[in-house]
This record gives sequence, structure tokens and C-alpha cells, in this order.
Amino acid sequence: MLVMVLRLLLCCLLSQGLHAQEANITHAQRTADAYTHPVPSLEASALNTFQAGRTLFSQVWTTPGSEDSQFSGLGPLYNRFSCVACHPGNGRGFAPDGPHQSMKTMLVRLSVTDAQNNHVPHPIYGDQLNEFGVPGVAGEGIADIDYIPVLVTFADGETVTLRRPNIRFSALAYGPLAPVQTSARIAPAVFGLGLLDSISDEEILQQAQRSKPAGISGRPNRVWDIAQQKTVLGKFGWKANVPNLRQQIASAFHGDLGITSSLFPQENCSAQQAACLAQTNATPELTMQQLDQIQFYLSALDVPPPLPHSAETQRGASLFKQAQCIECHTDQLKAHQQPSLALRKQRQLSPYTDLLLHDMGEGLADHRPDFAANGSEWRTPPLWGIGLAKTVHANAGFLHDGRARNLTEAILWHGGEANTARERFRHLSKEERALLLKFLESL
Ligand code: HEC
Ligand code: HEC
Repeated sequence: MLVMVLRLLLCCLLSQGLHAQEANITHAQRTADAYTHPVPSLEASALNTFQAGRTLFSQVWTTPGSEDSQFSGLGPLYNRFSCVACHPGNGRGFAPDGPHQSMKTMLVRLSVTDAQNNHVPHPIYGDQLNEFGVPGVAGEGIADIDYIPVLVTFADGETVTLRRPNIRFSALAYGPLAPVQTSARIAPAVFGLGLLDSISDEEILQQAQRSKPAGISGRPNRVWDIAQQKTVLGKFGWKANVPNLRQQIASAFHGDLGITSSLFPQENCSAQQAACLAQTNATPELTMQQLDQIQFYLSALDVPPPLPHSAETQRGASLFKQAQCIECHTDQLKAHQQPSLALRKQRQLSPYTDLLLHDMGEGLADHRPDFAANGSEWRTPPLWGIGLAKTVHANAGFLHDGRARNLTEAILWHGGEANTARERFRHLSKEERALLLKFLESL
């Protein structure tokens, strides 16, 4: 019943959100809370659900048996006490500036290759390094990042020093980690996800088949859907490694906070982690209602309205096209009608992503396959709202591991299928580069 009501509400609010975008209603200010607004004109009951979901997202969760049992279930192993700790202001995270600074808003995925050449979670440490444990359970260890400088020169002679990250592990509490494949990832922003969740498989496949300039391809990831028990197209995560918003939320509760749910009923401990196993709880710690509420909240977070076009941003937008950026960061995605979203017509979105995987070259490769994605493929991240990233959090980082401290660095790391695009950017004049950045900052 609740799910039905939520679906109905979701349908109405999604279509309203689209209306707002189409009419360019600037209800949200371009301020530090730009990623926290619901789509306009939510009814009172929907606003209540939205607020309940917001509480769950910012809630500090406590260990099982704590007084406030509604928000307990943290651990035995975990990374942070709350969702918002890694997604500050609902925005993106950042990488530490050097070694011995903790990873405040990011995590490290882990895997190994087994005898059959399958990529599976590490036998002891699982698929994510959990730095902390509840009392009596040792945290798994610490990941530090240090950097190697990489000098890049624009065609006009100006130089930029990029930083190439290198991960090191220490204080490993459960024995050796190597041999292991690792992937450090910062938290992405979490608004506009209801719209992306509603994009149909056909639309993603059409994006993959659309004709593109030489050198650019793009393909969907194919990942495991726990609820449906089958392989489906991937949408969320830096490698499109998660099929839908609901599973993404449940897996974050499980992997990042150690909180079980109907989708992830087992605590996140391996067979060799005895103290962790001894603390397991039989019932799912997150209730179905809580999962519904947080899903509604994240679905209803509106995309901040872009700045109105100026002569400068218009020139920047044409340079964005000329440099082939738009081939992957597409502004032409259709949200199709879905049975759960009754009465919705086909609508145009401008997320600046095709939701496809692209080979981004050796410079960005993590060499860690994730379902069908190989070690150098990444999902095109949406660029909507990216102009507000630093307003929402001054340290906001770019690219999967936050190595880029600003948009220029992010573009200069592009390689592989985006080689031509990067080269075209590198050959722009200083004035043209500034215009292209102005356009990105207007999103
Ligand atoms: C330790 C930091 C951390 C914490 C805590 C955290 N996240 Fe995340 N979140 C991430 C990272 C990193 C990713 C990207 C994961 C990947 O690529 O595999 C992510 C991805 C997501 C996404 C998908 C966004 C997209 O565009 O693909 C959602 C939704 C999300 N998290 C929700 C949550 C919720 C809900 C919680 C709390 C239960 C939470 N996160 C807690 C780091 C974190
Ligand atoms: C072949 C597809 C492709 C092309 C062409 C392309 N990009 Fe990207 N872009 C990506 C992918 C994939 C990533 C994520 C890479 C990563 O995280 O390692 C990305 C990341 C970014 C980011 C960082 C986003 C974030 O959330 O951190 C920015 C900014 C960006 N691209 C801008 C551009 C601009 C400007 C151009 C044109 C000069 C361009 N891109 C061309 C695929 C592409």
C-alpha cells in the first residue's frame, strides 16, 4: 500500500519537476543549499515523506542496542555514521590533499580475480574497505593517498600541474590485502536521481547505438539486480555498477554504514572476521518504510535551475559542442513513460550524460573491472548542477577519485575515447577556455 502511494506521489512530483525545468522556474537559489530542495509544489503528505527521508539521510546512526533504536544498526564494520557525511549538502565529496589525512568523503572498492578469472570480493576484506568497527570489532585498515605531479601544457604555452593519486594501505587488521584490485571513489552528488532512475533501458540502448564521431563509442554496464534476481542495465555509481536508486540506497546503508535491509539482509562481515560475525543482528536494521522514505527523498531532490543563457555562456555551449563534449555529456535524454509513472509523456531532460561507459584511457584507469565495465571504463557523469559544486562545498572534487581540484583539471585528464575532446580543449585560446568553463559553471 505504502509503495503504491509513494509511486503515485512520485509520478506527480516527477512530472512537476520536469515542468519546472521546462518553464525554467528558478525557485531554488544558487546557494550552498542548492541541492537540497524538493521539486516544487509537493503536497503536504509528500512533503512529510520527503522530510522523513531527509532525516534518515542526515541522521547519525548508532550501534544496535542504543537508546534511539529507530536509528540504530551501525556496523559492525562501517565507514561513516551518516549518509550526509560523505555527500555534504547532498553534493560531491573530495579527496584528501595528501597522505595521513583521512578519506572523509570517499571509499575504496576492493576485489580479486579468482581461479576462474571472475572478479569477486576480496575473501577477507570484502568489496569495500571499512575503516571503522563498533567496540570489540577492529576497523579493517586505513587508505592513504599521495600524489605524483603531472605537467600539462596548453597549445598557447600556459601550464597546469595535475596530480596522479596513488593509494597505500596501512593498519590492516585482518592480514594481508594484496593481491587486490582497488578503486578509490568520491561520493557523487545525489540530486536529480529520480529522473535518471526513470530513464528506460531502450533510451540507454538508443544512446549506445546513436552515431558518434570516430573514436567515440559507449556501452551500458550490465549488473545484478537483487530484487529481480537478474542482470539488467546499470545506471548509478561511477561505473554504472548499480541498477537502480533503491538498490543503490540499500547498498550504501550496507556497505558504508553496516546497516542491513531487505535487499542486503546479511551483515557485511567475511568468514574470517569472527568478532564481526559474532555481532550480527537477525532482523533487517533498516525498515521497509525507512527505505521507501529515503528513496522518495532522493527521487524528489530537484535539479538546480541553470543560470539563464548569456552571450558568453552561449559561446561556451557552442565550444562544448565543437570540442565533442556533448557526444558523451548529452543534453538530449528522453524520460519515457513507465507503468509506475502513470500519465507521464515522453519528456526531454538535459543531464549532460548518456549513462554509458566510455574507455577514458590509461590515465584514469583503475584496472578494476566492475560487472561488464573494464578497468578503464567509466560512466559519463551528469554535469547538471556542476557549476554549484564549489558553492555547496568549497573542497568539492571532480572525477571518480576526486583527483581533479577544478573543472580544467577534470577535462585535462580525459583520454581514450575522449582524446579528441581533450586535445580540442587544449588547443582553445585562453579566452575560449574561459567561455567553455563559464558555460559549465552556469549549469
Ligand atoms: C564513505 C562515504 C559514503 C557514505 C557514508 C555514503 N556514500 Fe553514497 N556514495 C559514495 C560513493 C563513493 C559513491 C559512488 C559509488 C561507486 O561508484 O561505486 C556513492 C554513490 C551514491 C549514490 C549514487 C549516486 C550516483 O549518481 O550514482 C547514492 C544515491 C548514494 N550514494 C546514497 C547514499 C546513501 C543513501 C547513503 C547513506 C546510507 C550514502 N550514500 C552514504 C560514498 C558514500
Ligand atoms: C568519450 C566520452 C566523453 C567525452 C567526449 C567527454 N567526456 Fe567528460 N567525462 C566522461 C567520463 C566517462 C567522465 C568520468 C571520468 C572519471 O571519473 O574518471 C567525465 C568527467 C567529466 C567531468 C568531471 C565530472 C565529475 O562529476 O567529476 C567534467 C567536468 C567533464 N567530463 C567535462 C567534459 C568536457 C568539457 C568535455 C569536452 C572537452 C568532455 N567532458 C568530453 C566522458 C566524456
